[in-house]
Amino acid sequence: MTAEHENGYFTEGTSEKVVTARNAKAEDARLRAVMEVITRKLHEAVKEIEPTEAEWYRAIMFLTDTGHNCTDWRQEFILLSDVLGVSMLVDAINNRKPSGASESTVLGPFHVADAPELPMGANICLDQKGAPMWVHGRILDPEGNPIAGAKIDVWQANDDGFYDVQQKGIQPDFNLRGVFRTGPDGAYHFRGVKPSFYPIPDDGPVGKLLASLGRHPFRPAHLHYIIEAEGYARLVTHIFDPKDPYINSDAVFGVKESLMAEFKPVTDAARCAALGFPGPFLDTEFDFVLARA
Ligand code: BEZ
Ligand code: FE
Repeated sequence: MTAEHENGYFTEGTSEKVVTARNAKAEDARLRAVMEVITRKLHEAVKEIEPTEAEWYRAIMFLTDTGHNCTDWRQEFILLSDVLGVSMLVDAINNRKPSGASESTVLGPFHVADAPELPMGANICLDQKGAPMWVHGRILDPEGNPIAGAKIDVWQANDDGFYDVQQKGIQPDFNLRGVFRTGPDGAYHFRGVKPSFYPIPDDGPVGKLLASLGRHPFRPAHLHYIIEAEGYARLVTHIFDPKDPYINSDAVFGVKESLMAEFKPVTDAARCAALGFPGPFLDTEFDFVLARA
């Protein structure tokens, strides 16, 4: 046996053992452990699927195309992870919450780090388009006490299903985004518009994959939140419209039962006037409970 074959010759039967033995000198123990699992599962999949060489090449070209569709503003590999359910799985593993705490969901690609901090109650809709919505609730600790000084970063798509960053020059910059800070009562409130369902970017290889799988690319209407407060775990989440046509088939598996909000129409003229709405609006109330850090 020559030195190169100290771990045995590569055969269909020994493949994963030979490759894993070759990786054994990796200094980084985590890398070694991860590669052992990946090698074992990947070889198992290939042995079960028994791809033709043409199928294997097609898979390589799919990944190549996915890479070619990544730019500074588009990450097709994250999109692939999203539609495979891997993003939500990583989120679930990293954000296990004690019972009673609000659940997390995917961040998505449309968060903007430098959205303006606005006075509580501000209207985040800068172009007066869409059905007005009053969004309000409280940020609470696990015992139900208000959390003062919590930072609430919100963003949403407009009623055509686009974020401002997807429509530069059409929507004003920072349209439908804002950062708010709670006072001693832990309460928050702001004005937005009824969000719409929208397709995830589907003009690339991931969109083609969804179509080949007989899947639609839509996410049900939602509002995004990142909530941070000293001493508490950061919460990245959404609230959803339970009446949305795609609520049971989110393309990225982000919907959780505990994140359903009610979008209640208010038509009573006195109530509209009392809250400063010139006409009917939607009333959406949602409290968040933060887990301790
Ligand atoms: C979003 O909700 O903004 C989103 C999440 C995953 C993929 C695309 C968009
Ligand atoms: Fe979104």
